[in-house]
Amino acid sequence: MEICQMISGLNEAIELLKCHKNDSVHVVSHIDADGLSSAAILSQTLDRKGIEHTISCHSLDELPHIEPCELTIFSDLGSGQLHTLHKFLHSDFIILDHHHPSQGDFPGLVHVNPTRDGYDGTFEVSGSGVSYFFSRAIDERNVDLSALAIVGACGDMQDSGKLKGLNRLILEDASKNGLLSYEDDLSIFGRSSRPIHKALQYFSDPYIPSISGNERGALAFLSDIGMEVKEGEWPTLADLTFEQKRMIASEMIARALPYVPPELAKYVPLLVIGESYTLVREERGSPLRDANEFATCLNACGRNKRFKTGIGVAKGDRGSLFDEILEVLRLHRENLKSALSVITSRTHERRKEIQVFCGEGVDDTILGTVASMLLSQKGFEPYLPIVGYTSIDDDTYKISARCSRLLTFGTIHLGKAIRRAACATGGEGGGHAPACGAYLRKDRLEEFLTSFECEITIQKNQSQNPS
Ligand code: C5P
Ligand code: C5P
Ligand code: ZN
Repeated sequence: MEICQMISGLNEAIELLKCHKNDSVHVVSHIDADGLSSAAILSQTLDRKGIEHTISCHSLDELPHIEPCELTIFSDLGSGQLHTLHKFLHSDFIILDHHHPSQGDFPGLVHVNPTRDGYDGTFEVSGSGVSYFFSRAIDERNVDLSALAIVGACGDMQDSGKLKGLNRLILEDASKNGLLSYEDDLSIFGRSSRPIHKALQYFSDPYIPSISGNERGALAFLSDIGMEVKEGEWPTLADLTFEQKRMIASEMIARALPYVPPELAKYVPLLVIGESYTLVREERGSPLRDANEFATCLNACGRNKRFKTGIGVAKGDRGSLFDEILEVLRLHRENLKSALSVITSRTHERRKEIQVFCGEGVDDTILGTVASMLLSQKGFEPYLPIVGYTSIDDDTYKISARCSRLLTFGTIHLGKAIRRAACATGGEGGGHAPACGAYLRKDRLEEFLTSFECEITIQKNQSQNPS
């Protein structure tokens, strides 16, 4: 089937762009890896058509401040904020997104979002994927942007086990065109850039006792399975033989299993073994060669407001912007480390179905990443959803919530829970099954947390009483 038949709204979006080929277009995208990849795909597409454009990246609370122009293209955001886009009603705009749409659809809206056609926006398609389908429908030659759409999907962590749904179609485009290769591998971050014991130390979903967050434990683990690694001669995952990887995988699974909720045990292998995606035209050893590592570079740029650097590299710059990206990555890691040490020095609250931390002092753009990292820290529960809050002004909290991907194989969908809880307490929230966020008036925090926990309880009960 043609892609325009599979995804509604694509034809309308292309027609609308044609009407504006001599106008100035504004691309508005999100601040994470998927948002930046998506912006790069659109920018490249518009460049090739000779359409002048500007790009800006925003967190969701900034959307109401964006002014309309002749044509605005929203990517990786917009669907969840339809009710805030009224001022765009008298100008033209296109939404290319994969988040759950909020109420507020209006006539004539050009809205491309595969969740409206029955696809799953958490695992089957990212914002970059939607932008890629738009781009390829404009011109088949834009197939060379497919690898970037895979980077975006990995940035949104859609690659549990392997990419599926519409992401799979994009993967085939990238592979057939010699841009990307994929193979079964260990799903460990830092495939070609981190010594294997370091990569194991940072592996946290599923949580592996005495390895996750524990460098010595990771070294001891390798020695237990007969892999002696000499200091200074650390191999990376990419250097290991198939047999060594097989041994590591089965031992990791065996060690994780006793600690996971029993009903989800069967999904553990999906988080340990999975496909790796290699951008074969990038140099060996480059952080851009592995799709997940590429995404991390873009995420670092987005979260540190270095959008031009990230988008420039995604569009192909391997000169000065590439050098900059390495510096931003270093800075991002430092920021995360200091945020983590601030939070772990405080007490946090453990409730029956959620754990809550105060993220005051942590920038709202990295609150979600910090929440994910806390799940593998001492004193935190790896299989209990975690929620953090930080001030964005005197009256408002930004909330981020995360959970292990394992829980999402059951009935947990944090995005749905936060949407309902935020709505019930006068805020706005949304997102995906393992990762979501909200904005909320400060005086409603306690009420919100109670409501969010209640939603999680309801979701958990669904697994016990499947109807
Ligand atoms: O808005 P968007 O869909 O692009 O954002 C999803 C966000 O959630 C990304 O920043 C991604 O890194 C994060 N995420 C996460 N843990 C997951 C899945 C997604 O932190 N398991
Ligand atoms: O900001 P954070 O990384 O925690 O966001 C995680 C996910 O939740 C993203 O996909 C983001 O688009 C979504 N989100 C949302 N509504 C909000 C805040 C975040 O849909 N108000
Ligand atoms: Zn996204």
